[in-house]
Amino acid sequence: MAKKQRIGVLTAGGDCPGLNAVIRGVVKASMSHYNMEVYGIEDGFQGLLDNRVKKMDWSDVSGILTRGGTILGTSNIANPFRVPVKNEKGEIEFIDRSDDVAKYVQELKLDTIVSIGGDGTMAMSRLMSQKGIRIVGVPKTIDNDIWGTDITFGFDTAMATATDAIDKIHTTAMSHHRVMIIEVMGRYAGWLALEAGIAGGGDVILLPELPYDMSKICKFVKRRSGEGKGFSIIVVSEGAKPKGGDVVVQKIIKESTDPVRLGGIGMKVANDIENNTGLECRVTVLGHLQRGGTPTAFDRILATRFGVKAAELCHNGVGGVMVAVRGRDIVAVPLSDVGGKMRLVEEHHPLIDVAKSVGTCMG
Ligand code: F6P
Repeated sequence: MAKKQRIGVLTAGGDCPGLNAVIRGVVKASMSHYNMEVYGIEDGFQGLLDNRVKKMDWSDVSGILTRGGTILGTSNIANPFRVPVKNEKGEIEFIDRSDDVAKYVQELKLDTIVSIGGDGTMAMSRLMSQKGIRIVGVPKTIDNDIWGTDITFGFDTAMATATDAIDKIHTTAMSHHRVMIIEVMGRYAGWLALEAGIAGGGDVILLPELPYDMSKICKFVKRRSGEGKGFSIIVVSEGAKPKGGDVVVQKIIKESTDPVRLGGIGMKVANDIENNTGLECRVTVLGHLQRGGTPTAFDRILATRFGVKAAELCHNGVGGVMVAVRGRDIVAVPLSDVGGKMRLVEEHHPLIDVAKSVGTCMG
């Protein structure tokens, strides 16, 4: 009898809605369709460093389609190529333990690993596949900034959450005749601000890709105020920056693969508008709310399609690839094409023209 294939599955990096739907897709398709065994790796690559891997069965993935977060846990610090250890002076230094991970994967007799994560995870997966581990990546992130795929799962849910928040802010903005600033996530990509901004009818939308001119924004909100509108809604991406200026950094997490945490631009924009116009401003930072909750129907379908495709690739012995959306199709793209690049909003993206056409100020 042919040996049953064994696959491992892990979720790494920041979480987002739809991770459980992918895990469910991988496990169900692998077990029922391809007769493979699936092993769940806990807390991303950390589980491979600490030997925390468990065989999964049907009951593990039953009832998780609609649940946010990840049943496997995740880590946005764990990196086999850069493991923090204390030296004899008590200082933290980093060592490469990728060979230990490769050995452990061999001991477990895992034929393929499905690694569900963002760009950092895809870059790590590519390096691990160069160590001889067969890896199939699955692109997740609310930022929608992964190169090689038209869309990532998690983005649609985060956009819906941000849009709902903008709708709520709208009513209180109208009552108090204020300038309301809503800071959304997205890192260096403006997709979340752009799409939620359009959906929520933002008057001003500020993206990292289009550095803003504060005098233009002040003129715009003053004109609205003078015209009797009395309020303005500004949707600002955490990675936005003024022309000639820089992003606002909230903190640096040294151990992280991507140490910079952005945050605080909303308050900067508010202060600048208040100082220049005298208009009253308030700031709402949506933060991690955007990463939580039940995935939308769109994200559940996309995540399930990704999970099923990943299982098919594992079954066919294909590795070194990431599943991706191209048009209406789910395809596999080489991991070597993905790492180290970001999918940003192009300067002349059609949605920017749409926003401008309805009178939105893009800074
Ligand atoms: O990449 C997803 C994301 O939510 C970004 O939008 C945000 O900048 C970052 O992660 C926040 O990371 P953390 O959860 O480590 O604060």
